[in-house]
Amino acid sequence: MLVRPRNTEIIHIVRTHMASFVDFHARSVNDRDAFWAEQAKLVDWNVAPKQVCDYSNPPFAKWFVGGETNLCHNAVDRHLKDRADQAALIFVSTETDQEKTYTYRDLHAEVQRMAAILRDLGVLKGDRVLIYMPMVAEAAFAMLACARLGAIHSVVFGGFASHSLATRIEDASPKVIVSADAGLRAGKCVPYKPLLDEAIKLSAHKPTNVIMVNRKLAEFTPVPGRDLDYDTERVKHMDAVVPCEWVESTHPSYTLYTSGTTGKPKGVQRDTGGYTVALAASMPYIFEGQPGGTFFCTSDIGWVVGHSYIIYGPLIGGMATILYEGLPIRPDGGIWWRLVEKYKVNVMFSAPTAIRVLKKQDPALLSKYDLSSLQALFLAGEPLDEPTAKWISEGLNGKAIIDNYWQTETGWPILSICNGVEKAPSKFGSPGKAIYGYSVKLVDDQTGEELLGANQKGVLTIEGPLPPGNLQTLWGDDDRFVKTYWKTVPGKLVYSTFDWAVRDEEGYYFILGRTDDVINVAGHRLGTREIEESISSHPNIAEVAVVGVADQLKGQVAMAFAIAKDSSGLTELAARLKLEGEVMKVVDAQLGAVARPSRVFFVTALPKTRSGKLLRRAIQAVAEGRDPGDLTTMDDPTALQQIAELIKG
Ligand code: PRX
Repeated sequence: MLVRPRNTEIIHIVRTHMASFVDFHARSVNDRDAFWAEQAKLVDWNVAPKQVCDYSNPPFAKWFVGGETNLCHNAVDRHLKDRADQAALIFVSTETDQEKTYTYRDLHAEVQRMAAILRDLGVLKGDRVLIYMPMVAEAAFAMLACARLGAIHSVVFGGFASHSLATRIEDASPKVIVSADAGLRAGKCVPYKPLLDEAIKLSAHKPTNVIMVNRKLAEFTPVPGRDLDYDTERVKHMDAVVPCEWVESTHPSYTLYTSGTTGKPKGVQRDTGGYTVALAASMPYIFEGQPGGTFFCTSDIGWVVGHSYIIYGPLIGGMATILYEGLPIRPDGGIWWRLVEKYKVNVMFSAPTAIRVLKKQDPALLSKYDLSSLQALFLAGEPLDEPTAKWISEGLNGKAIIDNYWQTETGWPILSICNGVEKAPSKFGSPGKAIYGYSVKLVDDQTGEELLGANQKGVLTIEGPLPPGNLQTLWGDDDRFVKTYWKTVPGKLVYSTFDWAVRDEEGYYFILGRTDDVINVAGHRLGTREIEESISSHPNIAEVAVVGVADQLKGQVAMAFAIAKDSSGLTELAARLKLEGEVMKVVDAQLGAVARPSRVFFVTALPKTRSGKLLRRAIQAVAEGRDPGDLTTMDDPTALQQIAELIKG
């Protein structure tokens, strides 16, 4: 049985609950099952769910138990009846000067071709497929094709290098990898294939096949018997018919690796039914995206924002989505606004760093294009500073600028203004209030007590069950899921976001930074431990500390303080610069330029407690020119002085 609401019904469902946001939110947590049962009607089910939420084994939540659905069906097939000839995927590359629109009919055909290739290679429900690709339409086809087959995709950000890729290949153990010869950045070719070959060499797990999309940007030698040319395979399947595999609602749709406090990335595992429903509901309530409209998210498919709001969310919502390869300032700083005008973009989603980059361009570029279609600009991934929010708000003539806060783990926003439920003003510097479905609590990190008063600083936590679309567990590691996220607050089983926050009298939250060693560089979440491990692999590095330091443009940058094994000669500037360059090259080659520290300073000691624990907060404070606070536990005070002097230069 297919539960297929027509668009009018979707609007009806939304309208009947145009309650005040307070009531809407209260109902979502106090009458949880009824609330989400209603949202479940926004998507198609092959078999309707029997139970809305099974939380009999906390903290593991199972959503829409007994239901059978398919993510690709909801993103593509179900729109064929009403909008086959409407744009679905608009691929724009300002690097290769290509613009190509795929209608829902075209997308359906391309996804089936990709699915047929994967099926021929033996990919079945539950098998993993790793996608390591630049921002090309084929990456979207590959993700949707996996969803179609019930295979679990794992997209790895194209900016990651061989070591990062190898750990992900090993953990996900994919049967097939889909990749490409190269990407382009600012006109410069970034080859993918050598990094992929190296990663497969490093990994204990070997994929059976690699599908290569050949953009003819970089020469490469295919590995005989393993590598297949996508174009050659595609033409064999031009009329492919590959039905959607109906999967249980709880069947994993994908894993996505994210950084934590250890060197080993965590494979965030997402279900199918809960994720589909959560994204479907977010379109009207949070984004006010209408079927037939256009969504432009400038993220990358390698990040969670790209999964949810370049690919699945807009397509589930029957919108056209723009997949953009290029920079915001090429050919000039007006390119995004030109696209808004050309494709009548209604909803735009980007990151604060991108806006800070645009701020340096000619402001006239903002008024050059017709932006009348644009309803709102959503920004997420890192703190949105007030001057940047004000600048873009004024530049866009007072259009809504909506800061929203979430994580790879949650898959969709935790905090935002929900203008689709009730119009509310944005407060610059705040990502808004707790969204429906989320029972957000601020707690004291020492006592675990809930902080009920206004303007008290605490850890932002979420009471279980986490709403639909949030992570089910960590891939292959239930224990790590429980220990990492649910056991950090004394005496309570609550999910920790690892972010400090305060809430004002009106329920607006302000995010104050991470409680752990995760840093955020231009909206990219990086683990300092991963970078330290990489730097330590240089033969002349004995010990290193990496911290995130405030940066005007990128929010934060990574800075390294290292002790050399052989420091003779390091009194010379040239020798220090040479070693610094070498260390940066190691990080580039292993993790990718995205993780490269902005500076590597050489010291003779690192500030530690007497028990040997690195005093990262103190290093960070000194590197930012702040007071490091109480240092009574510090072993060797000169270590911090060295850092202060190096920073002063
Ligand atoms: O520290 C918070 C910060 O980014 C972290 C999550 O990063 P990631 O897993 O890459 O997911 C990004 C999804 C948008 C959070 O723990 N963060 C995210 N959004 C905001 C933010 N910090 C401040 N304001 C935000 N709007």
